[in-house]
Amino acid sequence: MSQPGTTNILFVCLGNICRSPTAEGVFRGLAQARGMLDSLHIDSAGTGAWHAGEPPDRRAQAAALKRGYDLSAQRARKVRDSDYEEFDLILAMDMANLHDLRSECPEYAQRKLRLFLEFADGISDREVPDPYYGAGDGFETVLDLVESASEGLLMHLMSSE
Ligand code: 4NP
Repeated sequence: MSQPGTTNILFVCLGNICRSPTAEGVFRGLAQARGMLDSLHIDSAGTGAWHAGEPPDRRAQAAALKRGYDLSAQRARKVRDSDYEEFDLILAMDMANLHDLRSECPEYAQRKLRLFLEFADGISDREVPDPYYGAGDGFETVLDLVESASEGLLMHLMSSE
């Protein structure tokens, strides 16, 4: 159940082992640095269940740790029906995730669904690209985008308090 005075934020991608765990870890780290963690409940989930119970992808963990974010305690899970009630903001990493959420979400909660990068000021990208099958610096790109959107989301939350 939601606690009064707490904002509940759920980050969602496909597998919940690369992008949304990174978003959860980065957002938690930046919120903690600003002393905002007490008023936030932060979690992540995937629209698919293939990796349920697994820790984040080791490449995601390694890239995040280099920037000071420890993702190791996280475990993947699938989005569940109760998430639409429990969370105030449900933030999709890409359009496919948003589409999948929209098709499952009850009407009263549709307004909670957004693209995470809507909060990334000054960045024209709207989607966090899936790094899972890619080579190279995909995980660095994820971190760059997620850090930017996390900063914007924290500003948004501070201004709407
Ligand atoms: P994520 O990346 O959605 O950022 O966690 C993926 C992880 C696993 C798969 C696809 C995307 N997969 O097909 O197993």
